[in-house]
Amino acid sequence: MNSGASGTLLEVRELTKVYTSGYLKTTHVVGCQDVSFLLDRGEIVTLLGESGSGKTTVANVVLRLFKPTSGEVILDGKDNFSYPPREYYARVQQIFQDPYGSFNYFYRVDRVLHKAIAFRKQRFSTGDRKQRILEALDIVGLNASEVLGRYPHQLSGGQLQRILMARVLLLEPQLVIADEPTSMIDASSRAGILNHLLGLRERGIAMLFITHDVGQAAYVADRAVVMDTGRVIEQGPADKVLFAPEHTYTQKLLADVPKLHEKWDLSTDHEPTAVPADSQG
Ligand SMILES: Nc1ncnc2c1ncn2[C@@H]1O[C@H](COP(=O)(O)OP(=O)(O)OP(=O)(O)O)[C@@H](O)[C@H]1O
Ligand SMILES: [Mg+2]
Repeated sequence: MNSGASGTLLEVRELTKVYTSGYLKTTHVVGCQDVSFLLDRGEIVTLLGESGSGKTTVANVVLRLFKPTSGEVILDGKDNFSYPPREYYARVQQIFQDPYGSFNYFYRVDRVLHKAIAFRKQRFSTGDRKQRILEALDIVGLNASEVLGRYPHQLSGGQLQRILMARVLLLEPQLVIADEPTSMIDASSRAGILNHLLGLRERGIAMLFITHDVGQAAYVADRAVVMDTGRVIEQGPADKVLFAPEHTYTQKLLADVPKLHEKWDLSTDHEPTAVPADSQG
């Protein structure tokens, strides 16, 4: 599926989504407005912004969960809604925020992996299917004997999220939308998940990585698109946008990153310096 060729894979062009609700559809909320950016084949673009800035709205239009109010999403030169559903989802897949909610608790976790293989046009022998599943689990750092045959409630959130990454490997899409993929994972498993996301990129899979966490964005992304109240306010190479931002909003996001080294002044007396003197009874 991945051609390996460079060039634009996804173009989000002046995308606007206004939600309407209420009995007479008179309530309007702007989800995103005039959002434009490009995503090249095999690269990771982070969509970064605070809660409510419109990141998931953009992702959901890319995933065709709803149509935009105006503007368009172009995948591989064609409007995303012009693809037959099966072809589109062979190309574009998602890693969910909530790994717990992504499984049917009545079935063993193996089912999502077998279904991923069955979704592909290509047919594989039983032996090949098994082999592919073992390889995919190995790539995401899971021991097959510890996860296959288990039910979702018998595994951790981190293990379930890795199974969903193995599912993506079996599907081999061109693009993965990862919307806050670590937010429901305990901190000790987060770095592993991020490293395995980078592993997907090494296999030529491009990614739209959605986060409000500047540290995670800096760790995985090639390019960054910063959103505030529905609009893109700054975009460019991740190194530039995240380490030398021009816009005050991005500077503020960066300033909000906890700085542990400032809390503990290790250069002097090894005492915490951020604690007010009058609180040290
Ligand atoms: N289905 C909906 N109906 C009405 N308004 C919505 C809907 N979904 C999102 N919104 C509104 O659109 C705006 C953007 O929301 P969105 O979920 O895209 O933000 P986000 O950046 O993903 O936030 P978060 O980081 O909290 O996930 C918000 O004001 C939100 O309240
Ligand atoms: Mg969101």
